[in-house]
Amino acid sequence: MKTTKIVNNINDLPSPSFVCEEKLLEQNLKLLKKIQDDADVNILLALKGFALHSTFDLCRKYLKGCCASGLHEAILAKQMFQKEVHTYSPAFKEEEFDEIVDISNHVVFNSFSQLERLQHKAIGKTSIGLRVNPEYSSVDVDLYNPCGTYSRLGITSKNFKEEKLENVDGLHFHALCEQNVDALEGALKNFEDKFGKYLSNMKWVNFGGGHHITRKDYDVQGLINLLKDFKSRYPHLEVYLEPGEAVGWQTGYLVATVLDIVDNEMKIAILDTSAEAHMPDTLAMPYRPDIRNSAIANEKKFTYRLGGNTCLAGDIIGDYSFDEPLEIGNKIILEDMIHYTMVKTTTFNGIKLPSIVIKKDNNCYQIVKNFGYNNYKERLS
Ligand SMILES: Cc1ncc(COP(=O)(O)O)c(C=O)c1O
Repeated sequence: MKTTKIVNNINDLPSPSFVCEEKLLEQNLKLLKKIQDDADVNILLALKGFALHSTFDLCRKYLKGCCASGLHEAILAKQMFQKEVHTYSPAFKEEEFDEIVDISNHVVFNSFSQLERLQHKAIGKTSIGLRVNPEYSSVDVDLYNPCGTYSRLGITSKNFKEEKLENVDGLHFHALCEQNVDALEGALKNFEDKFGKYLSNMKWVNFGGGHHITRKDYDVQGLINLLKDFKSRYPHLEVYLEPGEAVGWQTGYLVATVLDIVDNEMKIAILDTSAEAHMPDTLAMPYRPDIRNSAIANEKKFTYRLGGNTCLAGDIIGDYSFDEPLEIGNKIILEDMIHYTMVKTTTFNGIKLPSIVIKKDNNCYQIVKNFGYNNYKERLS
């Protein structure tokens, strides 16, 4: 791992910085491993949600491998995780597919058209699967609902072609987002009702991601029971789950600094970070991130709107109150900013990307990556 620098005090970190706490990450990994062991299933890390490869030496101890969304994630999985690689894409590009096959233990096609065009490159080299759509729509936000109306993700039972399964070893579905076992139960019931008849000839099934396993109220034993029950009905099948968010869930934060305070009828603190560029899900979902030692507006004595340092009018993190007035130079800690943040950041406005820091078990902070002007320039030409 490339180490830039080690510091002992959070105030000495570059600002902004994503800080992942190794101890919290390991707690999540241990819980996932317990499910693997108790229910005899395989859990893969979904790189789309968590690709902090400086931590892969740790993740590798607990998880079976990675699921990748295409060539680049597959290469990262192969190079940095060095265990199983399972690759699914809404549509593979023909010119990338040979390399994906070389790297991947499983490839999952999103349609019969892709299967028919590309399977000849994969037969005998890797295990072939199909993504199906169980049409179980339980995610409220359309942006994150894989089973919404006219979804392009997965084959519906109406479009399923039983006669084309000769080279297919497995079925994959992904229907959830930040959900508990009851949602998996519903999706699984639809999956079995619609596709159960094909499972006798399969070798594996993949229940996708969206399982919020490491959230405090998640029914872990319920999941283990559900998986065991499924396995008792289909003992010949290997079962895979591929959570991303649950791996990085509440394992760290984003530390930023107050750069200025303006008073336009309301006090607004401008930070050296950005909702748009560094925390895009806060605007897309949208949601209001928790900030350490703060409350909702007007609950504590001093209320501020926190804004990002880009020109976008809507680059607003939210309204928060604090016990003490904010001052220029104060640190702000935005909680739970490890999953789906680093993988989605942009350099919009040329804003500097947050440094990446691992808080080690011995409480020191290892700065594993700093970014600068070149990272902005290199993305453009
Ligand atoms: C196919 C697939 N697998 C796994 C995941 C990971 O989901 P999550 O990070 O919500 O667990 C996703 C997320 O979009 C996905 O599309």
